[in-house]
Amino acid sequence: MARTVHVAITGAAGQIGYSLLPRLASGAVFGPDTRVSLNLLEITPALSALDGVVMELDDCAFPLLDDIVATDKPDVAFDGVNWALLVGAKPRSKGMERGDLIRENGPIFVGQGKALAKAADDVRVLVVGNPANTNCLIAMTHAARAGVPGERFAAMMRLDQNRAMAQLASKAGVEVGAVTNMAIWGNHSATQYPDAENARINQKPCADVIGHVSWLQKEFIQVVQQRGAAVIEARGQSSAASAANAAIDHVISMETATTGDDWFSAGVLSDGSYGIDAGLIFSFPLRSDGKGGRSIVEGLELSDFAKVKIDATTSELKEEKAVVADLL
Ligand code: NAD
Ligand code: LMR
Repeated sequence: MARTVHVAITGAAGQIGYSLLPRLASGAVFGPDTRVSLNLLEITPALSALDGVVMELDDCAFPLLDDIVATDKPDVAFDGVNWALLVGAKPRSKGMERGDLIRENGPIFVGQGKALAKAADDVRVLVVGNPANTNCLIAMTHAARAGVPGERFAAMMRLDQNRAMAQLASKAGVEVGAVTNMAIWGNHSATQYPDAENARINQKPCADVIGHVSWLQKEFIQVVQQRGAAVIEARGQSSAASAANAAIDHVISMETATTGDDWFSAGVLSDGSYGIDAGLIFSFPLRSDGKGGRSIVEGLELSDFAKVKIDATTSELKEEKAVVADLL
């Protein structure tokens, strides 16, 4: 065995954790030659539920699963980890926007950001708990003070990317694998901009294949923006299997060099690319070098239509940042 990867998952007894943990432990993420060690963080009242999850992981008899640590202490959970998946946070319920959770969930990421100082030197962090971009900003700010570079952090936008690709594939009548270059810009919220103008289907511009510009500019965007709410409306609970799947896709994209001229989307620290305010956690198209490094894809054309959408989601992120100024 070449290595053991140490992964912390917060909120491990929750819905997303339940879908995420078996796939991490099975080898589906880091491959058949890598052992996986799991550090599971929960709040104290959920430790007994977490015990049950640990029993189930034991009962899966995963050959690649090394040890499991279950704890309510962030310092213990993040000790020496190569990946930290920050899932633990309250989900919204029907009628709420994700941003409505910020004052309740934001404080979680202050302490966890500080505790990430305990992580391994190469730690990569994915924030899933909503509102993911601004929670990521909070965690990143506190971790950066403790010496963890901001470039290590991402907010999960992969679910939005996957949703957008699935919608385009269905409309075009092609397999989802034919859809590439799916950029999501901005916030994981109802203002995000899923960018069909730069997306491709079988390497052709998506609009040329679908040929229905008003659908691309209206229904497509709205369906992707509102998909989380639609799942909550139908299921009575927020997405979990698709969210866990998206977290796994994100980790795999970061662990693998991006091939061809494709890209993937995640909320990362803006460096001012595309005129987005530096210091926001903003979703951009990214490429990974497969060694933990990632870069923002530069030089994409943005139409006036796209720029208006991107301005709206930028404004929302600036407002969210102002609401948590005292947590930064
Ligand atoms: P859940 O309520 O089923 O589970 C959350 C778990 O987090 C609970 O077990 C809870 O005890 C735990 N928790 C709460 N505070 C914690 C803390 N301080 N430390 C450790 N654990 C803590 O919720 P879920 O369905 O698993 O969703 C988790 C979060 O992910 C929510 O905020 C949800 O909105 C968000 N989410 C984000 C995306 C995305 O695309 N970014 C997708 C789906 C869900
Ligand atoms: C989602 O996009 O499904 C999640 O962010 C959950 C939610 O609140 O919509």
